[in-house]
Amino acid sequence: MADARYVLAVDQGTTSTRAIVFDAAGNGLATAQREFSQHYPERGWVEHDPEVIWRDTLETMRAALAESGLHASAIAGIGITNQRETVVVWDRETGVPVHRAIVWQDRRTADVCAALRDAGHEPEVRAKTGLLLDPYFSATKVAWILDHVEGARERAEAGALAFGTIDSFLLWRLTGGRVHATDPTNAGRTLLYDIRADRWDTDLCKLFRVPMAMLPLVHDNSHVFGHTAPGLFDAAIPIAGIAGDQQAALFGQACFSAGMAKATYGTGCFLLLNTGSEAELSDDKLLATPAYRLAGKTTYALEGSIFVAGAAIKWLRDGLGVIAHASETSGLATGVPDSHGVYMVPAFVGLGAPHWDPDARAAIFGLTLDATGAHLARAALEAVAYQTMDLVDAMIAGGADRPATIRIDGGMAANDWLCQFIADMLGVTVERPAHLETTALGAAFLAGLAMGVWRDLDTLAGLVRATDRFVPAMADDRRAELRRGWHAAISRTLTTRD
Ligand code: G3P
Repeated sequence: MADARYVLAVDQGTTSTRAIVFDAAGNGLATAQREFSQHYPERGWVEHDPEVIWRDTLETMRAALAESGLHASAIAGIGITNQRETVVVWDRETGVPVHRAIVWQDRRTADVCAALRDAGHEPEVRAKTGLLLDPYFSATKVAWILDHVEGARERAEAGALAFGTIDSFLLWRLTGGRVHATDPTNAGRTLLYDIRADRWDTDLCKLFRVPMAMLPLVHDNSHVFGHTAPGLFDAAIPIAGIAGDQQAALFGQACFSAGMAKATYGTGCFLLLNTGSEAELSDDKLLATPAYRLAGKTTYALEGSIFVAGAAIKWLRDGLGVIAHASETSGLATGVPDSHGVYMVPAFVGLGAPHWDPDARAAIFGLTLDATGAHLARAALEAVAYQTMDLVDAMIAGGADRPATIRIDGGMAANDWLCQFIADMLGVTVERPAHLETTALGAAFLAGLAMGVWRDLDTLAGLVRATDRFVPAMADDRRAELRRGWHAAISRTLTTRD
């Protein structure tokens, strides 16, 4: 297929699914997107309907392709990137999920994690996986499904059920049930995968009570995983790249050298620092995680995971009703000189790095009678920057150098004021690319590399250019004052002491 020079990327995120057709210059030619429903069956629980995710994935892929005007045979490969950790368990025979997907934000297994920690298992888990015993990750969610769906555990042990993160489920569906596989960036978020040995770990599977018979094969990120099943598109298209969304964004930002960092502002915010060929475990606050594996060689990253960034804006819109559209926050926030002493700690699903407090819940501090919706919006945006600042502080405390620059992307990065505020609070120059769809671009890069659209990492790096730079400009005493206010708010929100 010498003339197949385009790549179709699908970015299956926490609140929306989008597909983008990219050309060989890395330009997005056509995009289709759908927001989908969140299910909150109990306090702290979050679920998705896997059938809706599959339907939206296929429809957005078809819509983007149609909008591009290209025939399916012009697509060299499909790249999949996805919300990580979210689990689907399905029947291998019928392909039907046995339960709704349990989402990464879901806290229902917090007690199980606490019990495992109390029993002294965290050091072993951390050494092998680079992760922590927190309900954020997949393993305890899989076990929950096996324990709560009648007959599921027996069927899983007999090999009749498959487990996958969203990428794996979509790959299964796209290949008509022929391929059950994933990649190291998704496997590495399950608590079942030894990230240095690069394999599922028998002891961890026993500890978390997840039968190995349900696990997918793990391939390089840039790899022909399979082809689309007949009838899905007008030609069979290779699925040639898979990565979890945060690692895909790192790749799409061309952070290919140790010391390069990116932060993506989506539902949550995830700061990843490339650490090269070493998985670094500096302290107990940040995660070590595979960044990508190419030709069998793994590059690792240090990760700070913030669970709520854009989700706080969604809450202002859907939960509180103070705005009708997310885009209003920018105007509201800049329409007031400051937050009027209001701090929002968006611990709606507990706190991730660097606090790791699954029982914390969101709180707003400093309200006075003249506080307005604009101050709340401002506080929600400021919280995004404060949390990123805490991650950078944790990285430095753990021995990393302060990054010279941080590349940022994701929907919220479109807000110039927020970019400047992030640079000010971090004391680091923030670079923003022309196109903020870096996650999808990273998945496209991985697929295009496998299919020969691009030759190597240098070629990819040449396609990525920062167009905007935000240089720290805030006075030191002002920064110190805001830091103090934020840290006071955080310490009043934590249920555990750091
Ligand atoms: O680890 C969760 C992460 O992958 C979710 O990403 O883009 O939905 O915030 P996002």
